[in-house]
Amino acid sequence: MKGIILAGGSGTRLSPSTDSINKHLLAVFDKPMIYYPLSVLMLGGIRDILIISTPEDKPRFEALLGDGSAYGINLTHMEQAEPNGIPEAFILGEDFIGDDDVALILGDNIFYGQGFTTLFRRALENHRYATVFGYRVKDPERFGVVEFDHRQKAVSLEEKPADPKSDFAVTGLYIFDSRVVNIAKQLTPSERGELEITDLNNQYLKRDQLDVQLLGRGFAWMDAGTHESLFEAAEFVKITQQRQGFKLACLEEISYYMGYISQHALFKKGKTMEKTDYGRYLIEIAKRKHTEQYWEEIDRNPMLGMVENE
Ligand code: G1P
Repeated sequence: MKGIILAGGSGTRLSPSTDSINKHLLAVFDKPMIYYPLSVLMLGGIRDILIISTPEDKPRFEALLGDGSAYGINLTHMEQAEPNGIPEAFILGEDFIGDDDVALILGDNIFYGQGFTTLFRRALENHRYATVFGYRVKDPERFGVVEFDHRQKAVSLEEKPADPKSDFAVTGLYIFDSRVVNIAKQLTPSERGELEITDLNNQYLKRDQLDVQLLGRGFAWMDAGTHESLFEAAEFVKITQQRQGFKLACLEEISYYMGYISQHALFKKGKTMEKTDYGRYLIEIAKRKHTEQYWEEIDRNPMLGMVENE
């Protein structure tokens, strides 16, 4: 299983904050936005990850995350010259994907909740053709919307419908088989001039090969693509972290629990940031003793990195 984070786009909805920098590098409270989607893929056990950004920002992502070795993963950086839509990620990533399945997450999507890791891992294991995740929202007209029949089977998908057929948004996390590359190549741009992920998902739905997993009310799903939603996401992260003393999307913590980096490496990284709460958090974890397996730990501890729930 390969992973892709799409962190391109023009970020116009966050102007002027994004006039000179990619929105996925902005902080969501105490860490860059891209940490959140990256943590999701890492918690899913995905270690080969392609980060697609813009020509101007690619060097900045490289400076921030490097080749991933600091986190025990393999990162490849690539540029998307123009914001031509989400499915273009699969066309650009053709060689990277090869014959593997691929999970794509949008760079501004934040998932959180007890059991999320378990649910995502299960979805990766059971995945066959295409899997998307539905989430009930108050404003479905802002998103891709999935409609179900009485047996909870998906029957239609529409992108930002004026008159939504349900309250279920399709979140920015998708799993596809390697055919996605060729299917993406056959799409044509929508009225907004982009290839649409909803058109791609509709191709799988048409073949009766789209699995929609619902994230229940115990989960939080946010995108941080507007000033309001970015601020709300930061507040959510701050309050959750402060209350429980766990950090969301702490990449080094996840690497450590996954067994990718040593206690020593965790400690050393913490030392480089000792002036921050983030750095001191790493040091504190490095000093703790862990005897249980990572997944047992997650099941007891609703909050390693982002995501755990049920
Ligand atoms: C995109 C997708 C939409 C999906 C949303 C999730 O919207 O087109 O189907 O529901 O991401 O964040 P956009 O960010 O292009 O408005």
